[in-house]
Amino acid sequence: MKALFVCDEKEEWTLLTNLFHAHFNKKISLVCVRKAHEAMETLTFDGPFGMIIIECGMKDSDPTDLAEDIFDTVGPRPLIFVGTQTMIKDRVRDDFYNEHDMVTLYEKPYEAEEVTKTIEDAINWAKKEEFENNIVELSTEEFLPLKLRNFYLYQQVPFDVYVELTKTKFIKAISANKPYTQSQIQDFQKRNIKYLYLEKNEHLNFLENSINKIKKSLKLIPQEDPKKRIQTIIAGVLVAHQYIKDVGVADNLKEFIDILIDNISKSLKAYSNLENLLLEFPMEHGDIAEQAVLKALISEFIVKSLGWRSDLTKSKTGLTAILHDIYVEREEWSTITYKDHPDLDYLESEQKQALMEHPKKAAELSHYFSNYSDVDFIIEEHHEQPDGNGFPRGLNAGKITQVSAIFIISSNFVIQLVMNGISQSSLRTIIRSFMSIYNVGNFKEPFSLLSKEIRRK
Ligand SMILES: [Fe+2]
Repeated sequence: MKALFVCDEKEEWTLLTNLFHAHFNKKISLVCVRKAHEAMETLTFDGPFGMIIIECGMKDSDPTDLAEDIFDTVGPRPLIFVGTQTMIKDRVRDDFYNEHDMVTLYEKPYEAEEVTKTIEDAINWAKKEEFENNIVELSTEEFLPLKLRNFYLYQQVPFDVYVELTKTKFIKAISANKPYTQSQIQDFQKRNIKYLYLEKNEHLNFLENSINKIKKSLKLIPQEDPKKRIQTIIAGVLVAHQYIKDVGVADNLKEFIDILIDNISKSLKAYSNLENLLLEFPMEHGDIAEQAVLKALISEFIVKSLGWRSDLTKSKTGLTAILHDIYVEREEWSTITYKDHPDLDYLESEQKQALMEHPKKAAELSHYFSNYSDVDFIIEEHHEQPDGNGFPRGLNAGKITQVSAIFIISSNFVIQLVMNGISQSSLRTIIRSFMSIYNVGNFKEPFSLLSKEIRRK
């Protein structure tokens, strides 16, 4: 095990190094750093560390702030604050100390026997939590990432789940067949962990189990709980995306997507009007899966309002909504909607090119779904704009078909809702701002229907 000592007095490094050497020669190697930023760098690049020791007299930063940063970045682990009685009293905040049972205090002066005892307690805590044994060194090729959100579906899983510490080191985050809580998953989210890792073969099992679980849940949800149905469809889209990217388009996946599209229609029918649906929509992360479901619902609403024979068209817009942004590499890029968007300047040229090509790539994917015709061009055109400032082709209003226009309006409406939040006033403000953009060509009629619905009251 490695221990990290953060202290700006070099004499103390020598003292503690000698002490570790004398008492824990084989068990622990001590790494010493002077400053908070060095500590964070060392933890990130030279980890994992099983134990942290912070000297409370450090001058350049606050010891409790540093401890919080460490827990936020690498997760809670045994941590010892050392210092004089006054320093500990003044600089270790009670709320932090009380919240974490693996945090201990050591009052100076250093007495060999006492220090050893405190460190042994920390080692025992680490052992009790199976902390050290849980760190495995493996190549990333043996693991596949799974979006953290998938784990809200379960209370326990039949395989070990890992968090990536460095490119080659993973730490077990959830043990096989051991119940975990929703708040544990929220804790990962707070630490900005977006992916958990599974061993490759177990990854496929996870996805297939998730598909079966969601299919069953959708059958059991009562008609009068459309919000629950929408939440379950969102979970389904998330799994479908992962499945397509990792495994491909297999028959069971196609059947699953048919079921999701069917349930999108069922959800829409359960609401008396679109505004109620929008205000109740469970927008929690604003991510691509949530966006897809909301875009599908709005497109289907417009298709129905146009009086089109809807069965065929709603399936088209449903599949378009599910597939169109699957190849957007990062969630935050899903709001880049046109060719001159200022955020594009921050992307590297390869990233920019991939983003410009995501409609085409997703359009090709739609060819695997032979039951749905003409979906490819709707997907390919989902970033076109009536004024010609869209991508990839820069078509203008006259060249964009009405079915594409329906999806483009729905898509941009949802992106605005993600950025502004969903409220009665945001709905109206967005519709007003769309007036000068979409009141033209094939956009005119779908926009007018959406706008009437929102401004009805
Ligand atoms: Fe897109």
